[in-house]
Amino acid sequence: MPVYVPGEQPQGGAWVKLNTNENPHPPSEAALDAIRSAVAGDGAALRLYPSPDSSPLREAAAKVHDFPADRIVAGNGSDDLLNLIIRAYGGPGRAVGMLDPSYSLYPVLAAAQGAPVVKVPVLPDLSFDLEAAAACGAAVFFLTNPNAPLGIRFTPDRVSAFADRFPGLLVVDEAYAAFSDSDCVDLARGSPNVVVTRTLSKGHALAGLRAGYALCPRETAPLLHRVRDSYNLDRLAQAAAAAALHDRAWLDRSVSAVKSTRRRMLAELAAIGWSSVEPHGNFVLTEPRSVHRPPSPETSAHAFEFLKARRILVRRFPGHPLTEKCLRVSVGTDAEADAFLAAARAWTAEG
Ligand SMILES: Cc1ncc(COP(=O)(O)O)c(C=O)c1O
Repeated sequence: MPVYVPGEQPQGGAWVKLNTNENPHPPSEAALDAIRSAVAGDGAALRLYPSPDSSPLREAAAKVHDFPADRIVAGNGSDDLLNLIIRAYGGPGRAVGMLDPSYSLYPVLAAAQGAPVVKVPVLPDLSFDLEAAAACGAAVFFLTNPNAPLGIRFTPDRVSAFADRFPGLLVVDEAYAAFSDSDCVDLARGSPNVVVTRTLSKGHALAGLRAGYALCPRETAPLLHRVRDSYNLDRLAQAAAAAALHDRAWLDRSVSAVKSTRRRMLAELAAIGWSSVEPHGNFVLTEPRSVHRPPSPETSAHAFEFLKARRILVRRFPGHPLTEKCLRVSVGTDAEADAFLAAARAWTAEG
């Protein structure tokens, strides 16, 4: 089986950690209050099992998206949902499709179910062949949108055209949708074969909590319920995620702060000659270069080590022509972005 290798999670402080696309801002106070009230007094509420189907979270998501609650399934992070979908739809003879590059966890989850993986390449112009993807023979296809690690996004019209042609279940993994200008929730509302997965980890700054949800066609929700753990989200995660979803003003503020830092990072990287993919998530895929070091996998590795020596952690994706010359840098706070940009300037000036 392939093994999923997560980005480094150094447990000591003093790192500028821009390698796993966490939100740099503290989460909504409403989410923290919900956790405090769930353990208020002597914490006796923790004696009791939580809602088996995470109804507080599902009802909050139903309200936010104006989507039927009985077609929403909650997950212990969206990784849990991706796993449930592959358990329900993948298996020997029932292949899992994905774009290459996209989220490297899908093949790991597919292997655990004995499901073959079909990879459809992202083309050099950052599009993909829709007809080839629709005819790839997979039972379930994961379209990461916005795409990680590239940061590109596909418009709802394009996703809809794909869904119309694809005979299986199309899962639009919208982990980064909060930072994009479009999403496919309307498509999930109306299509018989489209699931949208969302996470509280990125937009809502709750990666440590583990909560996500899937907006499903009517026939899909019961299948996912059937294969999930009976209490797949704990009481604190359900309460905090519901409160975070209701706090839309917090989300707007956080997203606009991330977008403004993202714009600045993009402009300052362009100013030192690093070219970047136009970003639609909370990260920038950028190609380091200097006078004596043209873009190459070696240049990317050199810049990575230079940053790491200054305790700035970013991510490399070697082995794929669209990413091997690049660094993926999460959008941090303004201070973190400044530290990264200063080091990037210093590396470039060294030649
Ligand atoms: C494309 C994509 N999908 C899903 C996830 C998982 O998110 P969660 O924290 O909700 O499990 C990630 C996390 O980095 C991601 O990049």
